[in-house]
Amino acid sequence: MEVLRPLIVGQIACITCYVLLIGFVSVVLNVLHQLLLYNRNEPPVVFHWFPILGSTITYGMDPYNFFFECREKYGDIFTFILLGKKTTVYLGTEGNEFILNGKLKDVNAEEVYGKLTTPVFGSDVVYDCPNSKLMEQKKFIKFGLSQTALESYVPLITEEVNQYIKLSGKFKGKTGIIDLSVAMAEITIFTAGRTLQGDEVRGKLTSEFASLYHDLDLGFRPINFMLPWAPLPHNRRRDNAHARMREIYLDIIQTRRKSTKSEADQTQDMIWNLMHCVYRDGTPIPDKEIAHMMITLLMAGQHQSSSISCWIFLRLASQPEMTEKLYQEQLSAFGTELPPLTYKDLDKLPLHQNVIKETLRIHNSIHTLMRKVKNPLLVPGTRYVIPTSHTLLASPGVTTRDDKHFRSAMTWDPHRWETRVEVEDDGETIDYGYGVVSKGTKSPYLPFGAGRHRCIGEKFAYLNLTVIVATLVRNFRFFNPEDREGVPETDYSSLFSRPMKPATVRWERRGE
Ligand code: HEM
Repeated sequence: MEVLRPLIVGQIACITCYVLLIGFVSVVLNVLHQLLLYNRNEPPVVFHWFPILGSTITYGMDPYNFFFECREKYGDIFTFILLGKKTTVYLGTEGNEFILNGKLKDVNAEEVYGKLTTPVFGSDVVYDCPNSKLMEQKKFIKFGLSQTALESYVPLITEEVNQYIKLSGKFKGKTGIIDLSVAMAEITIFTAGRTLQGDEVRGKLTSEFASLYHDLDLGFRPINFMLPWAPLPHNRRRDNAHARMREIYLDIIQTRRKSTKSEADQTQDMIWNLMHCVYRDGTPIPDKEIAHMMITLLMAGQHQSSSISCWIFLRLASQPEMTEKLYQEQLSAFGTELPPLTYKDLDKLPLHQNVIKETLRIHNSIHTLMRKVKNPLLVPGTRYVIPTSHTLLASPGVTTRDDKHFRSAMTWDPHRWETRVEVEDDGETIDYGYGVVSKGTKSPYLPFGAGRHRCIGEKFAYLNLTVIVATLVRNFRFFNPEDREGVPETDYSSLFSRPMKPATVRWERRGE
């Protein structure tokens, strides 16, 4: 063995030299390729030293910073390498229009998102089916979010928040420090659970279901954009959680199917709605797909609602006078007794709505929307043709953070919305199959996306957030902890951005 040692060390040194040499040559070739062989008919490529890695790290650390810096150098359209993939960014309102309103034959969402989302949501729904089927599924969910359903949610959400204040142990005494990243994740899953998911699921949310949700969410780790199938521990937990959740929903559906209750006596919630919906070809939604759509609903809006509510209270704590304005708004709308909120009351709270709107403007957790290019695409008004090997990237958050569209764009000022009306288009509407929506994407304010993949949860999200904010503001004042000024930085390390931890605020109970 002793005799072999120098030989082994020599071989390792030799292999290391080869690896370094190959690395060096590929860096040189990559740089020469960018400098000498660029195609004038394609958007400029963001300069990068390393092939495959490209600009992945700079983009991943702070996507908005990356986009603004690239815009300075290259303009609104440029291509960067993201994990080996040529990703063409088109910023600004024209970019949003080009990508989000692209024709179905030209741009495709399921090829980008499907591998990541299918193990989480399940088969035959959302991005694991043709777009026409997704459009029908979105229509079914919209039916379930009817006016009557939304009206019934207000007291339920209020009750959930009040229960949380009483029972969670996080608001004990007259004042304290609360970690919003934990509290808002819990509150929003309880409120969404109680309203969208129905009583059986809400009953399970404090125990088994909450940990299943956590495990399933591991499927959204950024690494899963590349390795969703890899036999890694987090993917095993994701798959087990998915299988168990599906079983729970199937049990609920089958128990309901066997129930002898008359139609009028059944709770008409989302599961009930989906059990009564029929595809255009006359097929009722199979139970497995209902289960998968319910999982999608549980996961779809959760990150955004939890992250936005977190940011709202961080902003309120950094400007405590705004919390008092909200409280005063409620007192002047409803009187000093502050009776329980009803659906109609929400229209009387414009400042509450503007706080949400303004927070979504700066802190939307979805910074990147992607589509696969299916046909070579000429960018109107340019010589650029984007080839089918590229993925397109829109970032409506760039226009909302741009001084060109919003005065002092990075200043959080809910009052700006008192004089500003955002119109999504010039009046034209279109129905992609899930109800009539605005056709254009001209507005610089698109926190819920646009086009055929536009969010269907907007009304619910506003209702949920307004009731949560109003209920907490009735009970508490919020302040920054002593060691922080302003709000925390943004953490972009997961797919959906969120406030950097610790996202704490100090609360004080009113009337003490
Ligand atoms: C503050 C909360 C929310 C924000 C900011 C938000 C944002 C978005 C955005 C930007 C998209 C477009 C994605 C794309 O074009 O690739 C989207 C799609 C969608 N959202 Fe939301 N969302 C929120 C809440 C919800 C809720 C509560 C639900 C469920 C009730 C929901 C369900 C969906 C669904 C089903 C889609 C459609 C996906 C598609 O057609 O490809 N969202 N959302």
